[in-house]
Amino acid sequence: MTQQKAICHHEFGRPLEVLRLEDVKQAEPQVGEVRVRLLAATINPSDYGMIAGSYGRLRELPAVAGREGVGVVEAIGRGVTRVGVGARVRFPEAGAWQETACMPAANLLLVPADVPIEQAAFSFINPPTAYCLLQKMVDLAPGSWVVQNAGNSTVGLAVIQMAKTMGFKTISQVRRGELIAPLKALGADHVVIEGSGWAKQLKELTGGEPIQLALNSIGGESASDQIKALGEGGTQVTFGGMVGDLVRFPTRFLIFNDVRLVGFWWDQWCQKAGSQGLNQVMSAVYGMMRDGTLKLPVEATYSFAEYEAAIKHDQQPRLGKVLLKP
Ligand SMILES: NC(=O)c1ccc[n+]([C@@H]2O[C@H](COP(=O)([O-])OP(=O)(O)OC[C@H]3O[C@@H](n4cnc5c(N)ncnc54)[C@H](OP(=O)(O)O)[C@@H]3O)[C@@H](O)[C@H]2O)c1
Repeated sequence: MTQQKAICHHEFGRPLEVLRLEDVKQAEPQVGEVRVRLLAATINPSDYGMIAGSYGRLRELPAVAGREGVGVVEAIGRGVTRVGVGARVRFPEAGAWQETACMPAANLLLVPADVPIEQAAFSFINPPTAYCLLQKMVDLAPGSWVVQNAGNSTVGLAVIQMAKTMGFKTISQVRRGELIAPLKALGADHVVIEGSGWAKQLKELTGGEPIQLALNSIGGESASDQIKALGEGGTQVTFGGMVGDLVRFPTRFLIFNDVRLVGFWWDQWCQKAGSQGLNQVMSAVYGMMRDGTLKLPVEATYSFAEYEAAIKHDQQPRLGKVLLKP
């Protein structure tokens, strides 16, 4: 029986309190299945939600943590013809922070071999979310203005780069002045500091043009500032809640400005759009990763044995993803 390392939790709670690096049994691929070996996994805010038991979809305990990673097919079960050994794929969703996992070959998401491994590792959640936020929520004409908070998050960096390619203009809210220059270098039109009263300078920022789309992954004051800044008929899409604070704003914006407030969840979007919708979005993302119009930074890489240091690093101010490699 082959053993392998996995970062597991037996109860819901804070990651540094409940996670353990354990030896678990390596599975053999059954009929129609493949075994995938992890190349690199990501740490995402939603991993913390799943570990804490507060996310929209939870695993049965005990569970292997981690939702996102890229791997390579290393063994195939009987009857598998769709892929061969060596194919690069999304690591099985049933816990990406482990060395290998098995899954039905029919459900594999294939990754083009010419996409760099570090980019592929975080290609499955944040870039497609950014793409859908810009392309699937409202019809934006070229030149439209988009405002977003957490401009330095991975979704935020993808929004900046994709918006540039798609011909939209962006205002990105951030918490630290040192982020202004790097975000502008990636193509941000304006970068503003949270809580600085930036919305009062809206006319100067957009030249009087309305903001049609606001992207909110924070909540609280940051989200209400966006609602007040939206132009008539504008839409705010909430897709994250990094701060649990309530969003308070005068209801006049709904009545007199016809502002719309909606939500987005990638997992649910995938279920509704089916494999055709998913493939369209992923091929657009991989197209941009291949031609370099989308390049997301890696902040640091840690081994499984260093997972506590990786999580501590992830929870510090940063610009880029923290990766885990077995
Ligand atoms: N609905 C969906 O389908 C979906 C899909 C993907 C992502 N998301 C959400 O999108 C957001 C970004 O995800 P990500 O993986 O791109 O993030 P990330 O790269 O891990 O970056 C985290 C971001 O959150 C900011 N942040 C953290 N705590 C904050 C606080 N208390 N107040 C204000 N800002 C705070 C950080 O700013 P600092 O650098 O200033 O700390 C940073 O910009 C998360 O909320 C995530 O859950 C949702």
